[in-house]
Amino acid sequence: MVFSWPLSVLLAIVGTSFGSMVLHEKRTAAPTGFVRVGPAPASEMIRLRVALTSNNVAGLQEQLKSIATPGSSDFRQWLSMEEVKTYMQPSAATISVFDAFASVNGLTPTVISPNGDWVSITLPVSKANALFAAEFEHFTHPSLHGPITRTLSVSLPTELVGHVDVLHPTTAFVGRDSRLVPAVSRIDKRGEPATSCNSTDSTGTVTPTCLQDLYGIPTTPATETSSTLLVAGYDNEWAQQADLAQFLALLRPDISPPTTFILLTVDNGTLGTVAGPEANLDVQYTAGIATNVPLEFLSVGTLFEDFATDLFDTTTFLDGIESPPTVMTTSYGNDEDNFGASVATKICNGYMALGARGISVIFASGDGGVRGGHDFADECANNTFIPVFPAACPFVTSVGSTQGFAPEKATNFTSGGFSNVFPTPYYQTEAVAGFLETIPEDFAGTFNETGRGYPDVATQGWNFEFVSDGKVLRAGGTSASSPTFAAIIALINDRLVSAQKPVLGFLNPFLYSRASSAFTDIAIGHNSGLSCPPFSIAFDAAVGWDPLTGFGTPNFEDLLAAALD
Ligand SMILES: *[C@@H]1O[C@H](CO)[C@@H](O)[C@H](O)[C@H]1NC(C)=O
Ligand SMILES: *[C@@H]1O[C@H](CO)[C@@H](O)[C@H](O)[C@H]1NC(C)=O
Ligand SMILES: *[C@@H]1O[C@H](CO)[C@@H](O)[C@H](O)[C@H]1NC(C)=O
Ligand SMILES: *[C@@H]1O[C@H](CO)[C@@H](O)[C@H](O)[C@H]1NC(C)=O
Ligand SMILES: *[C@@H]1O[C@H](CO)[C@@H](O)[C@H](O)[C@H]1NC(C)=O
Repeated sequence: MVFSWPLSVLLAIVGTSFGSMVLHEKRTAAPTGFVRVGPAPASEMIRLRVALTSNNVAGLQEQLKSIATPGSSDFRQWLSMEEVKTYMQPSAATISVFDAFASVNGLTPTVISPNGDWVSITLPVSKANALFAAEFEHFTHPSLHGPITRTLSVSLPTELVGHVDVLHPTTAFVGRDSRLVPAVSRIDKRGEPATSCNSTDSTGTVTPTCLQDLYGIPTTPATETSSTLLVAGYDNEWAQQADLAQFLALLRPDISPPTTFILLTVDNGTLGTVAGPEANLDVQYTAGIATNVPLEFLSVGTLFEDFATDLFDTTTFLDGIESPPTVMTTSYGNDEDNFGASVATKICNGYMALGARGISVIFASGDGGVRGGHDFADECANNTFIPVFPAACPFVTSVGSTQGFAPEKATNFTSGGFSNVFPTPYYQTEAVAGFLETIPEDFAGTFNETGRGYPDVATQGWNFEFVSDGKVLRAGGTSASSPTFAAIIALINDRLVSAQKPVLGFLNPFLYSRASSAFTDIAIGHNSGLSCPPFSIAFDAAVGWDPLTGFGTPNFEDLLAAALD
């Protein structure tokens, strides 16, 4: 009798690297909204990004803790590009292990980041399935133009464990529905621009002048050109110079010459002529408040149709800039679980590295209340709270929304809660513990008490008057709050640079200590969601820090005094 190996077994042996596999990440099903189409063809070529383990993330984290904490001897001694690279680059051992793996398997890795921590490999689906014990399939989502190729499970050959942090795209499923402006409405008749926040005006319209009045923000122009403010734009949202000019002529006619923005691009981003409401809102409320601060708009192209890749590429772009902006604001986010732990951790460590360079990384907290980034009515009945990312990353400052002027209260859509990936960071343990004591014994919500609590702060976030495509509109969302807060930080940086002091950089350790009393505590509000019934289980704003408005809304003069202290 003649024995022969079945062909499929032979192929399997040839296709795998030797040794066993260790599960890297898996999910039981694709997130809601994604529809499985079928297996990806074996010959389809996919480009996988591989995050090689940085040689000393823990060391950078320790150093950042020291430089960001008031009172330490190296307070605000932000690091250079090269200094950060020494921590973020992979070790020689990691590089050689990965190169050996690539060579044995006929792969040609290309280094795609300035710190050397990302390489890409292009390979057929059949080989990717075999090398990483995956089952790549096609999935569709209403927000995406075409099917994407993902797997529900990915493993690493044992020799790569400890040397590879992320394989992407594999188990992360992030749609393109990440903008955080749920409500845009047209203003057909408008009177004179409000000079202060008018509490008797039932529409409660917010303008730059209103915000200046409410938070004590000066109209005095910034004087320093070295400290710039960057607005990140995704999803083909293009800010328009003409809309900015019309907005400033209407609401900040005193700014002369009117601010324009400089365009930066990543991943073949462009500045299309189609006005994007999100991009316009973000650019107008930074230019309209951060008087005379140099403004940049970063257009991240949709080359990869994947928000997680867009975020990776934003951090690696900034990693390669010698004199980066000192403040970055991003009004986008998605449910943390859609990213998955390894992708979320790598993106978040990217913000840690930017924070260490002296960039204040600011994000909108999300618009779905305790139920994720967006206001999806089908999530109302579910009492599992859904955290938002990147808002829940401990190395970003996340900004929630308030409305009303007397009193100011948390909006019902302001996202906030606790991460399922990142534990409560050292700087907020006391603040979070104080809030957890206010939750009733019989509280039926399901959330992770050990997680990073967010947001950190809040500003107004409803009925912002702005211009898009030549029309005067009103919009709301934490999308309005993040640029507002970023503009305040940019103005404070301008004063610090003038006083020959370092910029604010990674803000949170400062916000939770020396600056916590520079905020007006917001203790009214319930974040069940914009369209979820108000009685749904959610958090209530409380005295002190809470996961709706953080420490509350800023008082410019107090924050400046704390910064100069
Ligand atoms: C405030 O709003 C009310 C109602 O729209 C209006 O009558 C009043 O003139 C406004 N006051 C100011 C100072 O804008
Ligand atoms: C993106 O831009 C690069 C460099 O300009 C170009 O070589 C490449 O073809 C572009 N890719 C696409 C898909 O347009
Ligand atoms: C609630 O929603 C979350 C996230 O969408 C999901 O993981 C969970 O299974 C849901 N729980 C119930 C009881 O439906
Ligand atoms: C809760 O958060 C911690 C991180 O603080 C995480 O390790 C844990 O898995 C989370 N629990 C759940 C049920 O997601
Ligand atoms: C949430 O607040 C908005 C803005 O004030 C309001 O229009 C909406 O009706 C509120 N939703 C619920 C369910 O209360």
